[in-house]
Amino acid sequence: MLSLVLLWRRTQKYEVLPTNTAASRIFEVKDACLIALLVLSLLLNAILGIGWAFTPLPQQFPEASYSPAQQAIEYKQLKFHRGLADDIPIYERRRSPEVDAAWEELYAYAASRTSHSEAVKMANKTWPILGEPGNYVIALDVFHQLHCLDMIRQELFPGKLLLLHNPDISALTSSAVASHGNETRLSRTHLRHCIGAIRQALQCYADTTPVVWQWDAHFQEAIQRDDVVHTCRDFGRIQEWAKERSMGLLPDLSVYIQG
Ligand SMILES: *[C@@H]1O[C@H](CO)[C@@H](O)[C@H](O)[C@H]1NC(C)=O
Ligand SMILES: *[C@@H]1O[C@H](CO)[C@@H](O)[C@H](O)[C@H]1NC(C)=O
Repeated sequence: MLSLVLLWRRTQKYEVLPTNTAASRIFEVKDACLIALLVLSLLLNAILGIGWAFTPLPQQFPEASYSPAQQAIEYKQLKFHRGLADDIPIYERRRSPEVDAAWEELYAYAASRTSHSEAVKMANKTWPILGEPGNYVIALDVFHQLHCLDMIRQELFPGKLLLLHNPDISALTSSAVASHGNETRLSRTHLRHCIGAIRQALQCYADTTPVVWQWDAHFQEAIQRDDVVHTCRDFGRIQEWAKERSMGLLPDLSVYIQG
């Protein structure tokens, strides 16, 4: 903007100079150049401005490590639910087969297959799928984290333990499940692992959306309102990606495959 003002002032100054001299012709040429530059600058500003307004949010934050699912990342605005009064999503409702099914659906497609060319781009090595040469097993961590949160929910509200579609079923089958009387409960070790997985994910993605306080006539005080709009990765899109590459349960991981 400052450069535009300077250009304009210089153009003004040259306009008051006498005409019909060799010098003035040079100035005229200079004026024309300056005006052309000014127009060009305005045009560029307009183009860049419009471009900026329509540029979608970046697909990945720049330092993110490679994921075969990065093409599935899209952003959308989502208003969060308070989980109070009349704003309680199914996941936070009283335990029932319907509620449990909704939770399971969140991480039902955890175990995915990935190709060799994708696997070599990942920061860490993964295991080949037995009987599927060229394919490797992965699970997007979002599904692991959701599974972990569900394990904590099931521990808080005991009932039939849901182990289906478990992203780390191998850990669960042995040490993670313990019997207490006639109720199957999760082991403390597995719950500790789950709390850690969720804590680190929350810190890692460090959501900076401001939670606000607003006056509430009923409580006669300003109360916390976290039902605000967030910019979110479109979970549905990521779930679709995983569904396309889903292998249902994990493959047999007990056979050593020569790399
Ligand atoms: C994954 O790679 C990182 C970076 O090289 C390394 O620090 C970490 O220990 C690796 N983890 C596994 C499980 O391979
Ligand atoms: C075991 O299950 C029965 C029937 O569901 C119940 O009455 C009993 O209290 C349970 N025992 C324990 C130790 O939880």
